[in-house]
Amino acid sequence: MTKKIAVLPGDGIGPEIVAEAVKVLECLRAEGLDIEMSEAPVGGAGYEASGKPLPDDTLALAKESDAILLGAVGGYQWESLDISVRPEKGLLGLRAELELFSNLRPAILYKQLADASTLKPEVVSGLDIMIVRELTGGIYFGQPRGIRTLDNGEKQGFNTLVYSESEIERIGHSAFKIAMKRGKKLCSVDKANVLECTELWREVMERVAKDYPEVELLHMYVDNAAMQLVRAPKQFDVMVTTNMFGDILSDCAAMLTGSIGMLPSASLDANGKGMYEPIHGSAPDIAGKNVANPLATILSVAMMLRYSLNESAMADRIEKAVEVVLDKGLRTADIDSDGMQKIGTSEMGDAVVAALAD
Ligand code: IPM
Ligand code: MG
Repeated sequence: MTKKIAVLPGDGIGPEIVAEAVKVLECLRAEGLDIEMSEAPVGGAGYEASGKPLPDDTLALAKESDAILLGAVGGYQWESLDISVRPEKGLLGLRAELELFSNLRPAILYKQLADASTLKPEVVSGLDIMIVRELTGGIYFGQPRGIRTLDNGEKQGFNTLVYSESEIERIGHSAFKIAMKRGKKLCSVDKANVLECTELWREVMERVAKDYPEVELLHMYVDNAAMQLVRAPKQFDVMVTTNMFGDILSDCAAMLTGSIGMLPSASLDANGKGMYEPIHGSAPDIAGKNVANPLATILSVAMMLRYSLNESAMADRIEKAVEVVLDKGLRTADIDSDGMQKIGTSEMGDAVVAALAD
């Protein structure tokens, strides 16, 4: 049956990088991949089109699709809007409405880009970590939240960190299943020494671990995990953590690879439906200049094929094609170095398509 893909370019460099990922999908479609793509606005573009960062039609399209390809959201012109209609709410709304609770953020150091990391090569060479971030709960969504005025007239901001056992269990199962397919080593990151909510997190992870006796489960406090990520990142295989800790640690892990423009992500529901996006942002400063790196978005298509479309051979081919392009010395500005050939966004997309066809 034809699989439906919602294409949501978003803002900033989003439209440019998504266009290159669509080229890759079109190439696979020409070979027989049975897909249908429909585009819709989200984020700032959604706000401009309908007054909402997640327009009703966009949400409806996302709901009826088998997978979603998203570029990025956000831009200077929307920063002064009320928080309820800022572009980021479009993204958070999609995550919540579609129950995309399991966020997979790989941090892989491509051997061709070993020099791109700010860390010593021996610390990061061969790095391959998978961060599993809980994406629809925790302090991002906890109630009550807001800014209130106290009796003395002073304002007070407040948010709530909350996780129920079932929320922890389901992200735990996601992470353990991924660990089973990789190095069978899982590090759960919490702050159980201070926060009751994550004391429960730790307890539930221990319980879930009983279903996966082959996986070695370790616990680490988040402050230590941040330190260990920059000290000796190769000790990690799969990490699982809360929404906010995952937000922070995944940026840190991404930078270990030196090339945030290379890293894809998947946000999955309980049935394998997913939203796929590069982990970098909308980079409004370079938007429209044909300099952004489309590889993270193209690699997100590979994750889509693997996790939602059941086409892992095609996913492997895309990842291989990206390596071929890097081996040829082709580089966008963000990953460029001496002796390499600097090319633009659309040339990079074309190069991947050419490598795929070879
Ligand atoms: C991310 C981003 C988002 C988040 C923002 C844009 C809402 O930083 O996907 O990591 O905080 O989750
Ligand atoms: Mg983030």
